[in-house]
Amino acid sequence: MSTFTPEKASADIGVYGLGVMGANLARNLARNGYATAVFNRTPARTEKLMAQHGDEATFVPSSSLEDFVASLRAPRVAIIMVQAGPATDAVMEQLAALMDKGDIIVDCGNSLFTDTIRREKWAAERGLHFVGAGVSGGEEGALWGPSIMPGGSPASYERLGPMFEAIAGTYDGVPCSTYIGANGAGHFVKMVHNGIEYADMQVIAEAYTLLREGLGATPGQIADIFATWNEGELNSYLMEITVEVLRQVDAETGRPLVDLIVDAASQKGTGKWTVQTALDLAVPVTAIGEATFARGASSEPAQRAAGQALAGNATALVIESDEARAAFIEDVRRALFASKIVAYSQGFDEIEAGAKEYGWGIDKGALARIWRAGCIIRAAFLDDITRAYEADPDLPLLLAAEPFATRFQECTPALRRVVAQAALAGVPIPVFASSLAYFDQIRATRLPAALIQGQRDFFGSHTYHRVDKEGVFHTLWAADGRPEEQWS
Ligand code: 6PG
Repeated sequence: MSTFTPEKASADIGVYGLGVMGANLARNLARNGYATAVFNRTPARTEKLMAQHGDEATFVPSSSLEDFVASLRAPRVAIIMVQAGPATDAVMEQLAALMDKGDIIVDCGNSLFTDTIRREKWAAERGLHFVGAGVSGGEEGALWGPSIMPGGSPASYERLGPMFEAIAGTYDGVPCSTYIGANGAGHFVKMVHNGIEYADMQVIAEAYTLLREGLGATPGQIADIFATWNEGELNSYLMEITVEVLRQVDAETGRPLVDLIVDAASQKGTGKWTVQTALDLAVPVTAIGEATFARGASSEPAQRAAGQALAGNATALVIESDEARAAFIEDVRRALFASKIVAYSQGFDEIEAGAKEYGWGIDKGALARIWRAGCIIRAAFLDDITRAYEADPDLPLLLAAEPFATRFQECTPALRRVVAQAALAGVPIPVFASSLAYFDQIRATRLPAALIQGQRDFFGSHTYHRVDKEGVFHTLWAADGRPEEQWS
């Protein structure tokens, strides 16, 4: 076993936690010219990193936490890359005990933003800066250029910003890292990013199931269709990797791999947090919600087994002529694009609501800008979102802004047809269907919510407002003649 004894104050930044993400982030920092201190609780990981990549650039390995902290130049910056949750708190306590006022602890894990708010307060009470930074891009992103969403104090971004911007992905030469806002803002937007990721993945999966059911297309044929779509407005990293997954053939059986993968989608929690938080903020993120629930529904074997006995009373989709098939493919493409617009629009609504609730003042244009490359939801589409928010930072509804409003209008006939066809054929497409319902709800001039208010007033005297006069009203439903009262 090697013992690493580093020189004091010789590293520009440190990474604690050398799992794949931590090791790749450390290598990215070192490759970009920052002497990078590295430490892992289990020394074997530090040894492995040094053995495999120690020659790539300047690493400053340590065998003890004391040496790791001492190897950092003041004000010290230590990135924590451990499993989100109690491990983060434990590492923070250990680091804080060895650090000095003004030092910076950065959590690059997928932490819950309310934990980050709590941790930032805890660190501030000790004179330390705490930065909760969302990092997206998976393992390759961490190594070659992720999208980085740091929260915390503006002062800490002055120290960290240049390093983050150097290691982040770039789009047209613009780095995909920007200061997001105080305390939990960075982890909040990363959470919503992941919620959007869930919806984006689900709408692609819904398009896949429609093409499979409607055309009887093979995964390979659908990959070809998606590859064409990926050359247009649907161009995205997720579409690109979907093509790869659909083309994968199992070496053992010669069958498409997708047909051999158990159809139960897992989750680690960020989508769920996005929906839970949206409920707290009263923001309808129906696309993200349906995508998250669809993963849950897919993962309930007993319920699915019980449900499979039920008759669907549906008529199979049969699309025969070449012309009809081509029209159906284009309809599905448009339905996918429309649903994607809904998912992003709702995600940005949640960011706006969170920013208001927590006083963050998030620049949504800048956020869309750093999502154009590096992250999992990177897509051509985000360039338009960037421009829309740059043109009007206070956009009340992304869906109603150009170019989305026009594109959405152009895609709605297709979305309606696809949702109706799928309903008749019994093909489940929850995000497509709920996106259409959301759209019709948001554009309605009058909603049945008036009836809900009447019902609430009936059973609970919850009162209502009237369209024709000011004030708060209640009908005495149990009294003769049901007179109406005006309440103060
Ligand atoms: C990213 C990803 C990353 C991770 C997801 C997966 O932005 O790099 O979102 O954070 O892959 O957490 O989430 P699920 O396991 O919940 O699908």
